[in-house]
Amino acid sequence: MAIIAVAGRKGGIGKSTIAGNLAGEFAAMGRSVIVLDADPQHSLADWAAQGEGVLSRCVEKVKGGNAETLRAKARTAEQAADIVLIDTPPGMSDTTYQAALVADLVLLPCGPSPLDLFAVKGVLNLALKARAERRSKRPRIRLVPSRVMLNTNLGRGLFSSLEEMGKKVLPAIGQRVVVAEAATSGLTVCEYAPNSVAHVEFEKLAKAVEKIVAR
Ligand SMILES: Nc1ncnc2c1ncn2[C@@H]1O[C@H](COP(=O)(O)OP(=O)(O)OP(=O)(O)O)[C@@H](O)[C@H]1O
Ligand SMILES: [Mg+2]
Repeated sequence: MAIIAVAGRKGGIGKSTIAGNLAGEFAAMGRSVIVLDADPQHSLADWAAQGEGVLSRCVEKVKGGNAETLRAKARTAEQAADIVLIDTPPGMSDTTYQAALVADLVLLPCGPSPLDLFAVKGVLNLALKARAERRSKRPRIRLVPSRVMLNTNLGRGLFSSLEEMGKKVLPAIGQRVVVAEAATSGLTVCEYAPNSVAHVEFEKLAKAVEKIVAR
């Protein structure tokens, strides 16, 4: 039904966390999900291997190869699942560009520091370049405030800074201990802490994403 890529130039901003937890939320919503781990670090596959939850059943490693490999894998996965998520490496690699060439939606997580904002502009331009190459409205592009400390001035200011970039901003994911704990247990937040605020945040994000890809 839909291919969703998570991308960002900055390391550690929450790309894999968002990809993995969206997979958990979509699975809980009854969707079939495949996650393509296209980052050579394979953090998502490592996370999945720690436990026996949703991720252990839906994460597939994509090894480097020619430029077509990722796109071909994503199209095959799309035939088999409702939602295909692609986790990409940090930086502005060819992998990120290939993901943007095949995705219906690209999510760009962004943290609250000015350096995060600077980095997200670079990857936004890369996604726009892919859209120009496709001569289409795809991929749709959305910003996701990530690792936000909502009780700080920087956190509160992030929404307006992101909106100034001219792309829609999706519900934020806060910086929360339970998110890291879930990953350590090999589980998604939905499985590890179903009553947590973090779960509510990821659920909101998944619903917002579903609305976009259903259009
Ligand atoms: N919302 C959050 N709250 C708490 N910890 C988080 C949150 N998001 C991510 N983390 C933690 O921050 C670290 C980096 O997150 P993650 O691996 O998702 O980032 P990334 O952008 O995929 O990094 P990389 O660029 O290296 O692939 C991980 O240890 C993760 O558990
Ligand atoms: Mg990652």
